[in-house]
Parts: sequence; C-alpha cells; structure tokens
Amino acid sequence: MEYESELKERAQQVNKLLEKFAPAGDIPPLLKEAMEYSLYAGGKRIRPVLLMETVKICKGPLNLAEPLAAALEMIHTYSLIHDDLPAMDNDTLRRGRPTNHVVYGEAMAILAGDGLLNCAFQTMTENIPYNDSRYLKGYLLAMNEITRAAGHNGMIAGQVMDMLSEGKEPDKDTLTYIHNHKTGALLTAPVKAGALLSLCDENTYKSLTDYAKALGLAFQLADDILDIKGDKGKLGKSTGKDEQSGKLTYPLVYGMDKTYEKIKQLNKEAACAIEQLNIEKEFLINTADFICSRDY
Ligand code: IPE
Ligand code: IPE
Ligand code: MG
Ligand code: MG
Ligand code: MG
Repeated sequence: MEYESELKERAQQVNKLLEKFAPAGDIPPLLKEAMEYSLYAGGKRIRPVLLMETVKICKGPLNLAEPLAAALEMIHTYSLIHDDLPAMDNDTLRRGRPTNHVVYGEAMAILAGDGLLNCAFQTMTENIPYNDSRYLKGYLLAMNEITRAAGHNGMIAGQVMDMLSEGKEPDKDTLTYIHNHKTGALLTAPVKAGALLSLCDENTYKSLTDYAKALGLAFQLADDILDIKGDKGKLGKSTGKDEQSGKLTYPLVYGMDKTYEKIKQLNKEAACAIEQLNIEKEFLINTADFICSRDY
C-alpha cells in the first residue's frame, strides 16, 4: 500500500484508541466539547503511529502501547491548543478549523489544554500493568520518557526559548535547541518509549533513538519551510506567520536552499541509523521519507 494511504489507515486506528481512552466521567459538558473539538479535528497522528510501529517491530506488548500512544496524542494536541493562544503564536486556524480559543474563548482553551494534558497522565497511570512482571518496568520507563519529553526538559523548554527568541538576533545554537526541544522531543519520545516498553536491547535502543532524533529535527525544518511555501488549505493552518512574528527558524538563519539540504541529510541520517538493525524497517524508513518531503 502506498505510504500515505497506510498512514491514513493507521491514523484511523489511533482515532479509535483516542475514543477508547477519551476524556470520560463527570466532566462539565463545555470542557468535554472543547477538549474533543481539538482532539478529533484530524491531524496526522504521526506520534502515536510511530509508537505503535516501534512496539510492533520490537515485538513488544501492543496492548500496553495503546494507552501510551493515546496519551502522546493528547499531549501533542494540548501543546497545539496552547501554542495557538493569543499570548503565544496567536493563530486562528488549526487542523482546518478555527483554533480552540477562537471558538471557546481563551480561558476555556487554556483549561481544555490542561484537561488533555492531565487526561494523558490519567490514561497512562490508570493502565500501569502492575501484575505484568515482564513489562511493568518497560511501561514505567516509557511513561517517564513521555512525561520528560513533554515537560520542562523537553517541549515546554523549547516553547519557552522559541518565545524568548522572537525578534532577537539569530543564533544557530539557540535555533538547534529550540527545534530539538519544542518539536524533536515529542517526536523522539514515541520511538524511545516504544523501544523501552518492548525491552529491546541497548544497541537497538540507541539506533532507534538516533533515527528518531534526526526525524524530529527534520520534522520542524519541514514545518518551517511549510510556513513559507505551504498551502494553507492543505496544511489546515495559517502560513507566513513565522516571519511576521520574528520567529527563529531554519530558513531565516540558513536560507531556503541550505534548509532543503539539511533535510536531505537528516533523511539519510535517519535511514543510516537503523540500517544495520535486524528488524522490520520499511515503515520507519518510509516515515522519514514522508516527513522530509511532506506538504502537509
Ligand atoms: C504541528 O505538528 C506542530 C509541530 C510540532 C510542528 P503536526 O504537524 O504533527 O500537527 P498535526 O498533529 O498533524 O495537526
Ligand atoms: C510548535 O511549533 C511546536 C509545539 C510545541 C506545538 P510551531 O509554532 O512552529 O508549530 P505550528 O506551525 O504552529 O504548528
Ligand atoms: Mg509556536
Ligand atoms: Mg505555532
Ligand atoms: Mg510552525
């Protein structure tokens, strides 16, 4: 099957997982609506897909991967709601819809984001396999990886530096820091978490981590390019915002040609990192190719 149709099919499976672990119980109806508005608005679901694939090829426990994959997408969606807020990137379009705060107001959007983040923690902790002596440790390590990547050592750190660098003198080290943290962390986490859960050997873990790090950086480089050259309709989000906001981006610091070159190099690095591994690699390699050439 062609990669993009395969990805879409896997995204549908992720949607089912999200429904399974969705915010439930005694929730104020408007909060539930606001959380679901962004969670079910579409999205490529690339992070949970990567986690499920890693566990599959490492022959780990797919049932235990499910709550972790759903949690990752909840965390990612919360990061988008907050990223779009007027106090942050001030965006009005996301996943092809008006942004959460445009529909529900800022206060509810902040709380819907908080709700999704905590729903992720709840989903992960409620499914800890206490009686599974084989995979308990892997599950806890995977959970730790996801929370670390989302937090002040990961995505939030990157978001802070992204914000503090607006309109400042371009600096290469800061740019790398921002990209590796704000985006790289939550793209590396699914692969690392999947490998940890599956208790794979150290060499496999290291190679998969190198693969995912290259992928994570490439993902944000592509995002930077799409902000300049992308199609708003296809992307489902506004374009031209980075320049307007004085964001520190790869094309700003290195120019467009070098950004394309760097993506190509990262695509190769990702493939090389897992070349020697004796596992089913095709989907991971195709994912790297997709991320490096995507137009949405
Ligand atoms: C957008 O992420 C935010 C970045 C980290 C660049 P995605 O491009 O994965 O967004 P969705 O989930 O498909 O909407
Ligand atoms: C966002 O980076 C990374 C997040 C943590 C959400 P961007 O601000 O460039 O993402 P988009 O372009 O709004 O999706
Ligand atoms: Mg941003
Ligand atoms: Mg943004
Ligand atoms: Mg962007």
